[in-house]
Amino acid sequence: MVDNQADQSPERQVEAISKAFEQEIERFVSFGDWAEVSKLNLESAIAEQRAVAELRTRFLGKKSAIAATKKLIGRIAPESRGAFGQLVQATEEQLQTRLEQIESSLSRYIEEARTARESIDVTIPGRRPRTGHRHPITLLRERLEDVFVSLGYAIEDGREIETDFYNFDALNIPENHPARAKADTFYTTEGFALRSQTSTVQIHAMQRRGVPVRMIAPGRVFRRDTPDPTHNPMFFQVEGLCVDRGITMAHLKGTVAELLRRMFGADTVTRFRPSYFPFTEPSAEFDFSCFKCKGSGCRICKNSGWIELGGSGMVHPNVLRTVGVDPQQFSGFAFGFGIDRMCALMYELDDIRLLFENDVRFLEKFK
Ligand code: DAH
Repeated sequence: MVDNQADQSPERQVEAISKAFEQEIERFVSFGDWAEVSKLNLESAIAEQRAVAELRTRFLGKKSAIAATKKLIGRIAPESRGAFGQLVQATEEQLQTRLEQIESSLSRYIEEARTARESIDVTIPGRRPRTGHRHPITLLRERLEDVFVSLGYAIEDGREIETDFYNFDALNIPENHPARAKADTFYTTEGFALRSQTSTVQIHAMQRRGVPVRMIAPGRVFRRDTPDPTHNPMFFQVEGLCVDRGITMAHLKGTVAELLRRMFGADTVTRFRPSYFPFTEPSAEFDFSCFKCKGSGCRICKNSGWIELGGSGMVHPNVLRTVGVDPQQFSGFAFGFGIDRMCALMYELDDIRLLFENDVRFLEKFK
């Protein structure tokens, strides 16, 4: 190394610097060669570049040994001064050239490697974004809404947590009715329950809009059912309500028949069977002729030719009274059915739970 500089003659000192430099640059020399430098990865090339820069400062910087030797010129005998000056300069230039070769090769390689890393291959096939789509129940709900909007109905949005009043009392459901049982309904805190039917919206709608009213209310309902192919503790219903002066059961039948013709085809036949619901009197369940076998009997209609769909009836006078409507002046009909049930029928699903599992392989079929 450059030790004991002062003990050596200035020429020997310069020579020693040269030698020391050669030793240190050894490790970097190969980077002057493109084939060698391109074996480095970008990060190590940058590290080497830094090491070379450090070497340059050490050997050619203001505080370098070679800079120190320049100060010795004055101590040199005048006749050797010129030669010494040339020696120093030549050495400096030598160091300079050796460094430059390595530096330029490294920096060219770093630049290329950076560009390569940042460039994109525009010919690589793109990854197609997977577009989503609406859920089959949403699609069906929208079709149902379209039918009713065209018949002059408003769409009502209810609430999913209800008070006993809306879920039961106002709908004329007596205190001891089994539907109120804890085994059937999800109660939240005292006096509140997840609504077990969309009929609750009848009450909200009449309170808010008064009468006459024509509305449907699609939405989720909840019952403590064990899931099986035809049951799920959460499902969807559509409620319908029409109250005006002079509304009769003929209006109910005409409306439901029209809905089913639009959903299942113009030749669909609807039939009403007497039934019981606390909030309607008289009450009826409605069935429609099987859209698949047209009544001759098949798997879908369980060989009966008919498919059961929902409940309906003339709004009970007690319900009207509860919301301050005079049953002497106004009458109305109401109906309700399951959207998921209708969906399962339409798409011939064996298991209604498919609609709630959100398995993309299933949902994609409805794109
Ligand atoms: N809420 C009834 C149910 O969940 C369905 C229903 C029956 C709705 C008769 C009505 C109706 O509006 O009039 O089973």
